[in-house]
Amino acid sequence: MHKTAIIYVSEHHGNTEKLLKEVCRGQPIDLFNIACTETINLSQYSCVGFASGIYVGKFHKSIFKFLKNRRCEFPKNSFVVCTSGIGKGRYALKFSNYLRDQGFTVLGEFECKGFDTFGPFKLFGGFAKGHPDTCDIANGTAFIRQLLNTIEHADT
Ligand SMILES: Cc1cc2nc3c(=O)[nH]c(=O)nc-3n(C[C@H](O)[C@H](O)[C@H](O)COP(=O)(O)O)c2cc1C
Repeated sequence: MHKTAIIYVSEHHGNTEKLLKEVCRGQPIDLFNIACTETINLSQYSCVGFASGIYVGKFHKSIFKFLKNRRCEFPKNSFVVCTSGIGKGRYALKFSNYLRDQGFTVLGEFECKGFDTFGPFKLFGGFAKGHPDTCDIANGTAFIRQLLNTIEHADT
């Protein structure tokens, strides 16, 4: 049996956490807030994904730090989930490329909009209000199902 985990950061409005909890419901995926990863045993997983909101164009810095400190413990297979104000997919692709440069095999990436009140958006009631919405969750659920199927058939 392949085991899958996701390590995530969701510090702005909890958008990424909300998305993950919905799309992973009933699926064999362990979710770890990065604040609770000190004792995580990464060697039991055949695939570990990373999820984050986007903060000034990037995944949260604690993800980069965690990766740097524990790179050698990770399995080769990974995937990427993020929420951003823009939600077009380019931040997920950017982080996937970073993971590939680190030697990971990236099995997929998913990005959707997340409610954003950063900077000037706050003055106008925020951007991407209501996201992730039911459509984002449906798309994310389809992504996770497809991903689990891919993991079942991937080399470990
Ligand atoms: C400090 C900060 C910087 C942000 N920078 C960007 C950005 O560069 N591009 C973007 O599309 N959204 C940006 N956002 C919006 C967040 O990525 C978006 O709201 C995301 O859903 C937050 O996820 P979270 O609630 O899980 O933390 C930013 C938000 C914050 C708080």
